[in-house]
Amino acid sequence: MSKDDKGAKLWGGRFSEATDSFVEEFTASVEFDQRLFRYDIEGSIAHASMLNKVGVLTDDELQQIKDGLQGILQDIEAGNFTWSVGLEDVHMNIEAALTQRIGDVGKKLHTGRSRNDQVATDIRLYVRSEIDGLCKLITDLQKALVDLAEREAETVMPGFTHLQTAQPVTFGHHMMAWYEMLDRDYARLQDCRKRVNLSPLGAAALAGTTYPIDREYSASLLNFSGPTRNSLDSVSDRDFAIELAAASSLIMTHLSRFSEELVLWTSAQFDFIDLPDRFCTGSSIMPQKKNPDVPELVRGKTGRVNGHLVSLLTLMKSQPLAYNKDNQEDKEPLFDLIDTVSNCLIAYVGMMPAIQCKAENMRAATMKGFATATDLADYLVKKGLPFRDAHEVVGNAVALAVQEKKDLAELSLEQLGEFSALIGDDVYDVLTLEGSLAARDHLGGTAPAQVRAAIAVARTNLADRY
Ligand code: ARG
Repeated sequence: MSKDDKGAKLWGGRFSEATDSFVEEFTASVEFDQRLFRYDIEGSIAHASMLNKVGVLTDDELQQIKDGLQGILQDIEAGNFTWSVGLEDVHMNIEAALTQRIGDVGKKLHTGRSRNDQVATDIRLYVRSEIDGLCKLITDLQKALVDLAEREAETVMPGFTHLQTAQPVTFGHHMMAWYEMLDRDYARLQDCRKRVNLSPLGAAALAGTTYPIDREYSASLLNFSGPTRNSLDSVSDRDFAIELAAASSLIMTHLSRFSEELVLWTSAQFDFIDLPDRFCTGSSIMPQKKNPDVPELVRGKTGRVNGHLVSLLTLMKSQPLAYNKDNQEDKEPLFDLIDTVSNCLIAYVGMMPAIQCKAENMRAATMKGFATATDLADYLVKKGLPFRDAHEVVGNAVALAVQEKKDLAELSLEQLGEFSALIGDDVYDVLTLEGSLAARDHLGGTAPAQVRAAIAVARTNLADRY
């Protein structure tokens, strides 16, 4: 086969036959990596500017390259760009288009660079920007939770352990628990961002380059905090993507647990809250149904994000240094997990203010499960009984209440007095739900005053962010 038949590959020089058409499709990534176009162009402009600074490109060449790349950017944004599978990936599509547009000067862009440091740069720029987007969404969700917590700072509900009624808490306190989880998620993303925010540009294929490059300069043009240190590591490292995936899995774990609660709470059996119709769907057969599809889907999508984390870990586990084509497989899981987490956060941000608490139902549910039994024990301890003995006394009282189908507060003073002479008529103060809540009045406790204090701290924390 003549050299003319081999197709317009940018790397075609040493090849004597055209790529097999299946292999061409099989090895191409342009269908999915084209979404990196913005970062690819940004990275190329920084690289060309650096080459100009060190005297490898003239001012005029740099200007032509910049103008050419800006034009390509506009074309892509306007939908006037034809992607070619034959050109394999986003990088070679854009480079080929540049040469087509500005002629031979375009062929100089790849001086002192490889697609290996180029793609590593693109992904880092993309991930950095997506982390910023996720952090903003997490913050929005935290704000929505704080608002909801404030609205429901005194609304009593049963707190559960083992999904059995444990002690009264407030709905606001419960919402602030979700706030705390998201606060850790935010911190994890910020921490991950530090390791994302380094420039691999200049590592070239794997060993660096023979040109007198200025890696600090290209790093600064891209607002990286600095260059990466080892060229082999620079082109092969995807830890930062795995870190983001791991942080995302935890975000999804939190949203999934939250979703599970929303699903339970909207059920006829719990009936604690109402989710407005716009967040629910109906059944094609059962006319009465209003299904909490949004939380269910978020819960379901958690599996997908966890799967992507495992994909990325597995992708990397056996790769020898430095770059291997395996790495091309990092993109689809990474893109999908970011899209998924973003969408789930967006859904939650919208859903939070719409939650309507059914305070009466929550109160009735709290009355049912002897939620103030610990308060009665604590009451006896304060009157001098050792806690273990108090536990026993209250256990006996609960057994009677179960038998009589009453709450502890509904037992008469004589009945309660049978179990301990220490019980006086002030006992009813601690058996009420409000008394129980108000008594847990310390940092982190469920007393409405403490919930309000936590809200105030949260608001100050959030005010520093955006
Ligand atoms: N499309 C490739 C990727 O996503 C770009 C780097 C290709 N490098 C190479 N030496 N073949 O990883």
